Amino acid sequence: MTTTHAFWLAGRQATGEAAFDVTHSYDNSLVGRVSVPTDAQVEEAVAAAYAVRDEFSGLPAFRRAAALDHVAKRLGERAEEIARLITAENGKPIKWARGEVGRAVSVFRWAAEEARRFNGEGMRLDTDAGGTGRYALVRRFSRGVVLGIAPFNFPLNLVAHKVAPAIAVGAPIILKPAPATPITALVLGEILAETDLPAGAWSVLPVPNDKMPALVQDERLPVISFTGSGPVGWSIMDSVPRKHVTLELGGNAAAAVLADWSSDADIEWAASRIATFSNYQGGQSCISVQRVIADAAVYDRLVEKIVEKVGAQVTGNPGDDSVDVGPLVSEDAAKRVEAWVDEAVAGGAKLLAGGTRDGATYAPTVLAEVPDNVTIACEEVFGPVLTVTKVDGDDAAFAAVNDSRYGLQAGVFTHNLQTAFKAQKALEVGGVVIGDAPSYRADQMPYGGAKESGVGREGVKYAMDDFTYERVMVLTGLDL
Ligand code: SIN
Repeated sequence: MTTTHAFWLAGRQATGEAAFDVTHSYDNSLVGRVSVPTDAQVEEAVAAAYAVRDEFSGLPAFRRAAALDHVAKRLGERAEEIARLITAENGKPIKWARGEVGRAVSVFRWAAEEARRFNGEGMRLDTDAGGTGRYALVRRFSRGVVLGIAPFNFPLNLVAHKVAPAIAVGAPIILKPAPATPITALVLGEILAETDLPAGAWSVLPVPNDKMPALVQDERLPVISFTGSGPVGWSIMDSVPRKHVTLELGGNAAAAVLADWSSDADIEWAASRIATFSNYQGGQSCISVQRVIADAAVYDRLVEKIVEKVGAQVTGNPGDDSVDVGPLVSEDAAKRVEAWVDEAVAGGAKLLAGGTRDGATYAPTVLAEVPDNVTIACEEVFGPVLTVTKVDGDDAAFAAVNDSRYGLQAGVFTHNLQTAFKAQKALEVGGVVIGDAPSYRADQMPYGGAKESGVGREGVKYAMDDFTYERVMVLTGLDL
């Protein structure tokens, strides 16, 4: 019999009147049914979160840290079960799903640590005569209830990046998982329910997308943390300009391989990292490699190696340990990728590898000589496709990286420290990875975009800053 998963309303399980199916995109099997909260239940969750906000922000750090440590421990204990669930809901190969669970453990562990050292800072004010005898204490206070809206591509870890920092600062959170992958977030709810966090401090509500505008407008939810597509993210921000909105949106991340990255070992490493991180999770990561920008001095050797390594990526059943590339989240997603590649080829691009679709699985694909005016040259493909472009010199490479509406992360393959610093200064992105693909992310790092890739930063400590604001206390008449 099919399980219908209850949702989490103010820390307890509840079911609504309707339910929807979650299916596996590889074989269309049913993963589970998920209960949908009624409008009245959503209202109950929001009211409970709002009511508990002062109690929660006043909860001692040791209690918040203990809850976060507990979640980290239990995720570790249930890692294989949860990884299998991620693979079933999302289609991502099991090896990447296991990696995602490991990262989520780290996010909760970091949040526990950060909760313990969320101290504020002291500031002397006697730097001017008027400040004689004065000292300031700057502490951060919760902005209020967070509405977290999570995407399908990391059903656990991008949920963790919203829930863990909210708990760390004592901000209640209403978490809305992606319609394609809600069950993983509901299982996280099982673990959160084992803690003694106050009722109302967290809810996991699979609210249908068409009901979200009302929640977004709700004045009891002053912070919105959204990860997902650009059009939806910007429309949220435009609809509530007075709220504190953080947007983690898309990207068409570039890997620039410069002329000094030229030994056989260099080329081997760059090609292997590019081939892996263009295709990991079917390219459904905002920092998967979409654009390779290679100096003319290394272009031919590099492209030959990339094509060889992309061709060696194993596609198939994402539940198999040996599989590198599984299905995309849906057949429609794969058909869109197919249409974009076909458009590029019709426009004159050269297909060096891939270019075929089998149901929801799109073959790892390499395109060269892509015309500027085709969709794949300017939009985020969110599929296992990379384009290669030849440039002359570092400045041309950096200009090509910046020739995008997006700016999330970039990879720069160089051995030269001066060039690395120059890249960090020149590239309009939230993160520059030297000697590797742009897809590297450690979960404590600030992560977020420039330009149309978004506003605000995740990475535990940075999200904690976004969920709080500074309140300064000035002390007067002190003998400093
Ligand atoms: C994303 O797709 O933005 C998240 C990438 C990651 O966490 O590795």
